[in-house]
Amino acid sequence: MAGKRLILMGPPGGGKGTQAKRLQDRYGIVQLSTGDMLRAAVKAGTAVGKEAKAVMDDGKLVSDDLIVAMIADRIAEADCANGFILDGFPRTVPQAQALDKLLKDKGIRLDSVIEVAVPDARLIERITGRFTCAKCGEGYHDKFKQLKKAGVCDVCGSTEFIRRADDNAETVGARLKAYHDQTAPLMPYYKAQGLLKVVDGDRDMNLVTGDLERILGT
Ligand code: AP5
Repeated sequence: MAGKRLILMGPPGGGKGTQAKRLQDRYGIVQLSTGDMLRAAVKAGTAVGKEAKAVMDDGKLVSDDLIVAMIADRIAEADCANGFILDGFPRTVPQAQALDKLLKDKGIRLDSVIEVAVPDARLIERITGRFTCAKCGEGYHDKFKQLKKAGVCDVCGSTEFIRRADDNAETVGARLKAYHDQTAPLMPYYKAQGLLKVVDGDRDMNLVTGDLERILGT
């Protein structure tokens, strides 16, 4: 399917996950979040989870080899055949090079790489106010996306919510540093391939979604 294999790039807390879920519903393509996969591995206590936990808690990046192996397995699954949204991957130039090779070997191409751009100053508030339904995973924010009824998930009615261990002001500094040092070089990498588009993520969520839908088409 043309136009539906994409990467959402952007800083921690910039809205990649929020928008990826909307695009998943809108286009019937799967969200592949390496952060979600790692958190599931940590929760399940797998070998990958044990290796990743301390690195994630420090706001640093997990090793390229581990991440690339994880995403290669996931992209091979049947539900990715119609298209996918990579959310939080790639995050380093070696990861991007590995992805290029992986897709080339499968005879498929990326259609778009979209940067959701948000200034650093906004991100701490976004990250520290974030929480998620423990049952269905719907994401919320203390200020920007509040529950309709206090203490009850709008989607599934659960009353249990979780906040991520790395969503605190100290770890955000390390996550931003990793983003600027290791992930920002991917913008020129994809620009040189003619794939990069930039959306202003420092606006209402619905406006951001509208821009993404305009880029992706029907
Ligand atoms: P990961 O889970 O990928 O975290 P992240 O990149 O830091 O991104 P976030 O999930 O925090 O933010 P988001 O952009 O999805 O924002 P959201 O939509 O939730 O990675 C976590 C860790 O795993 C990394 O630090 C690393 O250790 C490891 N890792 C993962 N992938 C890796 C890789 N490829 N290589 C190596 N290590 C890896 O929005 C945030 C909040 O803001 C929400 O509450 C939302 O409601 C709100 N919001 C969203 N949009 C708006 C808006 N437009 N206006 C106002 N509020 C908004």
